[in-house]
Amino acid sequence: MQNAGIAALGLNWRYLACEVHPNDLPFAINGAKAMKFLGLNLTVPHKLLALQMCDVLDESARTWGAVNTIRFETRNKAGAWVPLNEVPADEIFEIRSHGFNTDADAIVRSINEDLGLTLRGASVLLLGAGGAGRAAALRLAAEGVSNLFLLNRTEEKAGQIAVEISTRFPGVRIHVTVQNANGVAELANSLKRHNAAINVFQGYPRDRVDLVLNATSLGLKSNDPLPLDVNWLRFNKPHFVYDMIYRPAETNLLREAKSLGCKTANGIGMLLYQGAKALELWSGKSAPIAEMRRALEKNVYGS
Ligand SMILES: NC(=O)c1ccc[n+]([C@@H]2O[C@H](COP(=O)([O-])OP(=O)(O)OC[C@H]3O[C@@H](n4cnc5c(N)ncnc54)[C@H](OP(=O)(O)O)[C@@H]3O)[C@@H](O)[C@H]2O)c1
Repeated sequence: MQNAGIAALGLNWRYLACEVHPNDLPFAINGAKAMKFLGLNLTVPHKLLALQMCDVLDESARTWGAVNTIRFETRNKAGAWVPLNEVPADEIFEIRSHGFNTDADAIVRSINEDLGLTLRGASVLLLGAGGAGRAAALRLAAEGVSNLFLLNRTEEKAGQIAVEISTRFPGVRIHVTVQNANGVAELANSLKRHNAAINVFQGYPRDRVDLVLNATSLGLKSNDPLPLDVNWLRFNKPHFVYDMIYRPAETNLLREAKSLGCKTANGIGMLLYQGAKALELWSGKSAPIAEMRRALEKNVYGS
């Protein structure tokens, strides 16, 4: 995807993938800086670690609490920090690493463009509270969803995200669903300490849900169970179902949702848009989305 984008922009650059042990991340970032790399992308588990390792953080990295893109920068003749490619190599003396997050906006852009759904005012059932689930929950709250229902196997993790949202985005009605009656009182009591306005209840939302968003890893394997109760899905038939998983292209959740007439999309758009934004940050040019999408789909699906 990146090399296709780079070629379409006519840049003489290369994008390489390197396996780095988390213990070696500071050396990898400093090594790339020393070799005058233009930038880096980072994936799990480096996104959180890199927060402490960048010389400066963009607001996106501070707001969403993770770095997935680094741009190396130097000073131009006027003393302003600019991307490395804007200054001749023999005039580069001081370099800094600038950390960004392009993941969070990519979730919203993909839901907007691939499902045609405007999130402001929507009611969302979010499945999963891992790294991607947390980012999605915060970003959807910032987008102004009206109701956010959080469901996760480890219910305390959903509770922690709910507390964070109720503090940062008090306009969003936030609910945590738990699967057994005892858990309701237990979680509600532990959340009370935070003085947060969070509704804890058992089972599944009884109110209207516009979008079901899967951010669990259930669906990566063909024999995985659905990440939610199929009877609820069949009865409630939300208009939109989005699965962050993009391989397989159609998870069991998406297949079931499609058969019910829901509009569906997988996570390939999310992957595309975080990469496109990274290329824009490095190059200062608009990303050639069509070329990048074609290369990505060819790489992931072989067609
Ligand atoms: N399209 C994209 O660009 C993109 C980007 C990032 C992630 N993703 C996808 O999003 C998914 C989550 O990624 P992540 O980075 O958030 O991973 P993560 O931090 O490891 O979180 C995994 C999530 O899945 C849940 N889960 C795992 N196994 C489960 C099971 N057997 N039953 C019920 N729940 C289970 C976990 O619940 P617990 O909290 O209980 O463990 C947690 O909520 C993955 O499928 C990943 O491929 C896609």
